[in-house]
Amino acid sequence: MDSFPPCNMLMAVLLPFLCCLSTAAGGKLLVIPMDGSHWLSMKEVLGELSSRGHEIVVVAPDSSILIDSSGNYTMKTYPVPYKQEEMEELLHTIGTTSFSELPFLTRFLDTWENFRKSSAMFQAACSSLLYKKELMKFMEESKFDAVFTDPLTPCGQIVALHLSIPTIFFLRGIPCSIDIYAAQSPSPPSYVPRLFSFSTDHMTFPQRVKNLLISISEYFTCSIIFSPFERLASDFLQQPMTLTQLLSHGSIWLKRTDFAFDYPMPVMPSMVFIGGINCGRKKLLAQVSECLGEVLAVIRVHGLCEI
Ligand SMILES: *[C@@H]1O[C@H](CO)[C@@H](O)[C@H](O)[C@H]1NC(C)=O
Repeated sequence: MDSFPPCNMLMAVLLPFLCCLSTAAGGKLLVIPMDGSHWLSMKEVLGELSSRGHEIVVVAPDSSILIDSSGNYTMKTYPVPYKQEEMEELLHTIGTTSFSELPFLTRFLDTWENFRKSSAMFQAACSSLLYKKELMKFMEESKFDAVFTDPLTPCGQIVALHLSIPTIFFLRGIPCSIDIYAAQSPSPPSYVPRLFSFSTDHMTFPQRVKNLLISISEYFTCSIIFSPFERLASDFLQQPMTLTQLLSHGSIWLKRTDFAFDYPMPVMPSMVFIGGINCGRKKLLAQVSECLGEVLAVIRVHGLCEI
């Protein structure tokens, strides 16, 4: 798949950034990953960074599904208040919902419910990490140059603020365009279609009204989903903080999506599209099915099946 060169592109973006942060040849990177498929692409990047001499420490829950140790990085784990099976079941439900044939509204509500459940679980894990004294002490003393994290669970950013170091975000996206707001990209509802709106950037008046209503509803749904994290961040950092404010501290946003697959929107220069990284693994069958999953998800979200 030579049509997917983003690994090189990603390194071109990421490496100078890491190098400038440290006077030594290699940088010291703290990785606070997200479990599930998100990890697979991240692990590819860590292998490459490690082979270029960077020192990497991955901090993850002890009941992770896919996050595993490797010669490419040091692994530190912390206990979390849920079992691996519970996380597996949730991921399974999310997968089933994404590809279910149920009516749109049911699928929409199921999706939000899944977001809410996973947010609660990740919040519990994050709380365990932040209040685990030895591990926090280790991170404070290790003098990392940067945090590499998936901001869908904003734990990495909370740690980065605590350690006063920059963050590199590695993400597919965040519900309610929080990534777009946090990076301060303009997002007027008259021109930027919201997720699930099925509109383009050329909207008729009724479509704009619908888009406005969706963006208002997002405000409420996302406060429900993310309020546990906002409380945790505000308590731990001892200043009131919304998720958007928290993530506005990100230095660079590496988005694992392709601009052509997404709703049209203006983005800030700190956002870099690295879509093909999702298909980074070279095993043909796995690669094909991963890409296929991505394409199917995009088709579902954009409602192309109806065409
Ligand atoms: C480290 O990463 C490289 C590049 O992704 C990979 O080829 C290698 O197998 C990894 N090494 C280990 C010990 O996992």
